[in-house]
Amino acid sequence: MMNLASVAAHYLYKNFRTIASLAIIAILSWVWDYRLGLLLTLGIPVYLLILNLSKFLLNKGKAMSEPTEEEVASRMVEFAKCQGALRACHASNNYEALSSSLVQADVIGRKSLAWQSLGNLIGGIAKQMLVTISIILIVALAINRSLNAISAIACIGMVLSFSKMLEDVSGNVMGTEERRQQMDRIDSLMDTQELKEVDVSQDFQEIGSIELEDVKFSYDKENVVLNDISFSVKPGEMCALVGPSGSGKTTIEHLIARFYDVDHGSIKVSGVDVRDLTTSELMGQLSMVFQDVYLFNESLLDNIRMGNPAASEAEIQRACDLAGVTEIADRLPDGWKTRVGEGGSSLSGGERQRVSIARALLKKSPIVLLDEATSALDAENEAHIVKSMEELRKNATLLVIAHKLETIQTADKIVVLSEDGRVEQYGMHDDLIKKEGAYKKFWNYRISASQWQLV
Ligand SMILES: Nc1ncnc2c1ncn2[C@@H]1O[C@H](COP(=O)(O)OP(=O)(O)OP(=O)(O)O)[C@@H](O)[C@H]1O
Ligand SMILES: [Mg+2]
Repeated sequence: MMNLASVAAHYLYKNFRTIASLAIIAILSWVWDYRLGLLLTLGIPVYLLILNLSKFLLNKGKAMSEPTEEEVASRMVEFAKCQGALRACHASNNYEALSSSLVQADVIGRKSLAWQSLGNLIGGIAKQMLVTISIILIVALAINRSLNAISAIACIGMVLSFSKMLEDVSGNVMGTEERRQQMDRIDSLMDTQELKEVDVSQDFQEIGSIELEDVKFSYDKENVVLNDISFSVKPGEMCALVGPSGSGKTTIEHLIARFYDVDHGSIKVSGVDVRDLTTSELMGQLSMVFQDVYLFNESLLDNIRMGNPAASEAEIQRACDLAGVTEIADRLPDGWKTRVGEGGSSLSGGERQRVSIARALLKKSPIVLLDEATSALDAENEAHIVKSMEELRKNATLLVIAHKLETIQTADKIVVLSEDGRVEQYGMHDDLIKKEGAYKKFWNYRISASQWQLV
């Protein structure tokens, strides 16, 4: 963005000024001497043509090196950030991905430099040629006595200052072109289609219900993630989503929160299609407790209060006690006022999730979308989450991506997804377990896994 700003601040303005001067000199030189006018007027398009060629070569070079430079930059950040993982596999001294990206950047960098140098060279030669030809012509006219000595000297002076201006134009154009790749990328970002939003929401029909009808969705238009998904959850029910990794469970919750629009079918929240709700109305219906909880770099208390800025101190205290955040605050150096770092980096994953549960408890929205932790939680964490879920269940509809056997067993409804993103089975635990099928297999596998022990 700084580079882009410099285009606007330095190059564009200067270029307009210089081009205006060039045009004025070219026009007025006709008054001075028509031959000089002709020379300068013809010189501009010829010069611009050559400049275009040199611009093309410069871009070609830049387009080559830009991706490799980017690769090196991201590998370096990765190398610094993932030291823990790299050390664990003894790769901290020789990180192959980084060293090969450096080699690649070196090879491509040389080629790119060659193209760019050629571009600059052609641009420079064009200018010098224009000056030389002009001076030869003026001298020839002077020798022929078509031009008197004073006029000839004045013409040469004019040509030199004209060429200086052309040089400025080409420098500015090159400077702009050097930033072309970045500008194109920012353009493509700015051109990203916005999610359409209605101005006024439709009235809710059945607060707390969720309904998916024939939902089809893919992230990249090639690999279909969800296929004909239909199920509904009534107000106050708890629905468990289960299925293999990658079957689309998180995607379903993201679609309900309208992070993306479905490709086909519809999703209704509280009886209204999510596309007919304003973002604030939709968010008013939902609380989200996902695994990748993002916290703002504010105090712990502010992060929780965000759930409901109007909540009283007593309500906040109760939500925090229930979700187990009070203990986190007691442990931190500045208690509730401790800043949690960018994204909540100074808290553990389990702690971040507890904060987001406290937010949900405080928000008291009619629907809660929850993604249960896959990793085994310690007993204390587990107890807080169970208690919080019981509390949430009293007043809200829960759609839980369930991993714990108790959650699945006590759910009012279970949606079993297949690997290809379809609803394979749908019903209650007691009914599903009696039938041969994916759920029974999944359940038996989980039961046997829960009996594994480290010896
Ligand atoms: N932002 C994304 N862009 C492209 N593909 C994605 C994106 N998020 C998920 N996917 C793909 O969509 C599919 C479903 O992913 P999803 O995260 O919904 O699975 P899941 O059932 O939640 O898995 P898990 O149990 O491992 O959390 C996967 O194949 C995944 O690779
Ligand atoms: Mg998931």
